[in-house]
This record gives sequence, structure tokens and C-alpha cells, in this order.
Amino acid sequence: MLVLKIENKNHIELQFLSEPSDINFGGKVHGGMMMKWIDQAAYACAVQWSETYCVTVYVGGIRFYNPVQIGHLVKMNARIIYTGNTSMHIAVDAFSKPVDKNKFVKNTHCVIVFVAMDTETNKPKTVPPFIPKTDAELAMNHYALRLMELRKSIDEEMSPYISR
Ligand SMILES: CC(C)(COP(=O)(O)OP(=O)(O)OC[C@H]1O[C@@H](n2cnc3c(N)ncnc32)[C@H](O)[C@@H]1OP(=O)(O)O)[C@@H](O)C(=O)NCCC(=O)NCCS
Repeated sequence: MLVLKIENKNHIELQFLSEPSDINFGGKVHGGMMMKWIDQAAYACAVQWSETYCVTVYVGGIRFYNPVQIGHLVKMNARIIYTGNTSMHIAVDAFSKPVDKNKFVKNTHCVIVFVAMDTETNKPKTVPPFIPKTDAELAMNHYALRLMELRKSIDEEMSPYISR
């Protein structure tokens, strides 16, 4: 069961129960499943914003703070925090809680970059610009810019191991 809440066009929220089939060898939710949900939430956010098919181009530093228990309610929050010409930088926060409790606990956070695609040419397509308005949006926009700067040195460090 998936609940999908659309508040603003730059924001999407998914809520669902973690299922027995999501389990890892230690009895909790598999890290790979969390990554799939992060990708799905960000994909829905990117498509909602760009109104076209989108692909993941980059996922930054996923850190799991707390394990997710099977049978808990999972909440995935995805919001556009920066747009380039064809890319959308999306902050994803994952939370979970026992169904009968009120307070969600944050399990992970990451920034994921999607590129909008022209399905006819199979080439990247221009996206509508995201213009931050609130203080919170401005702070996240600056955060995205700082991460982009940091990524340059990470990309340089990793370049010997990437052949295209
Ligand atoms: C997405 C894809 C079509 C882009 O092609 P490309 O030749 O790299 O195109 P560009 O160089 O023009 O980059 C497109 C955008 O991606 C961004 N981008 C590329 N590498 C990036 C990185 N490491 N981090 C963040 N953004 C990145 C560029 O900055 C550009 O954004 P902008 O237009 O807003 O400036 C191509 O990389 C691709 O097909 N990747 C595989 C996607 C996929 O299959 N994902 C599923 C997971 S396997």
C-alpha cells in the first residue's frame, strides 16, 4: 500500500509499510531496499517537476543513521532544492515509526540528481527553473551549491576508476 501526498510541485511524500519481503540478513529492512525507495521518491519528484521521463545521474553520500524495522510505517520526503539546465537536485529524507506511535525517526538523508530526458531524441531536456522562495528553500539551495563544489574534488579523486 502506497500513499502519495503532493503538496507543492517541488515536493512529494510517499508513505507505506515496510514488508517481510524487504528484510535483510539481520531481520531489519535491507539497505538496498532503502536505496530503491530513495530513488523512487526522487524519481516521482523529478517527473512531477519536469513533466517528462527522468533518469538518476548521481546519488550522494547515503548514510544510514538508524535501522528501519519490518512492519513500520516508512515516510519518504523528496524535494527539489536546485535545478540546472537539465538536472534536478533532490533532497530525500527517509523516516520511519511504529504504526501505533506518533513520532517519526529519521533514518537517512541524501541528495540525488536526476536528469530530464527527451524520450524522442533520448537526450537530456531543459527543466523549468526552481526558484527558492522561503528561507528553508534558500538554505537548501545553498546547500546544493556547496555540495556541487565539494563534488568536484570527489569526482577528480574518483576519475582514475571511472572509464567512459
Ligand atoms: C543522464 C545522461 C543521459 C546524461 O548524459 P551526459 O552526456 O552526461 O549529459 P550532460 O553532460 O549534458 O549532463 C546532463 C546533466 O547531468 C549533470 N551531471 C552529469 N554528471 C553529474 C554528476 N556526477 N553529478 C551531478 N550532476 C551531473 C550535468 O551537470 C548536466 O546538468 P545541467 O544540464 O543541469 O548542467 C547519461 O549520463 C546517462 O544516460 N546516464 C545513465 C542514467 C541511468 O541509466 N540511470 C539509472 C541508474 S543506472
